[in-house]
Amino acid sequence: MVVMLAASCVPPAPGVTREPSPERGSALFRRMCASCHGEQGDGRGPAAAGLVPSPRDFTQGVYRYRSTPTGELPTVADLTRTISSGVPGTSMPAWGHVLTSQAIADMGGAATFYDCLVEIERAGAR
Ligand code: HEC
Repeated sequence: MVVMLAASCVPPAPGVTREPSPERGSALFRRMCASCHGEQGDGRGPAAAGLVPSPRDFTQGVYRYRSTPTGELPTVADLTRTISSGVPGTSMPAWGHVLTSQAIADMGGAATFYDCLVEIERAGAR
């Protein structure tokens, strides 16, 4: 018997019952993350001024916390880990205590925040 695997084979974390949804992820991004990372994901949200290091500018497509080679995008699992654990020593909060596993999967499930931002643009939000 041949078992077809989905293109992304990241096993769901406990509590993740639905397919990750970029639509829900981008709505959450606007609500929870845009204050620092900016509505456009350019790292220039209203709370970003004066933060050292600066919030990541996702429009560059350059990520630090990856299991993938330099210059490549992180995996969904990498993003999920960064979002739930935060970045100690910076202002990037650990969201694991605040957001459900499903919500974090929805954000990581946008595969890259760039995809998330495309969804935001499509929704016409500024
Ligand atoms: C209080 C400001 C703040 C908020 C709110 C915030 N972040 Fe961040 N975030 C940061 C900073 C600062 C960094 C850069 C850390 C570094 O350079 O090591 C960062 C880094 C990241 C990274 C790491 C990217 C990489 O290089 O691998 C991800 C992913 C991320 N944030 C996602 C989110 C998500 C998703 C949310 C909302 C749930 C969020 N952030 C909310 C400040 C914030």
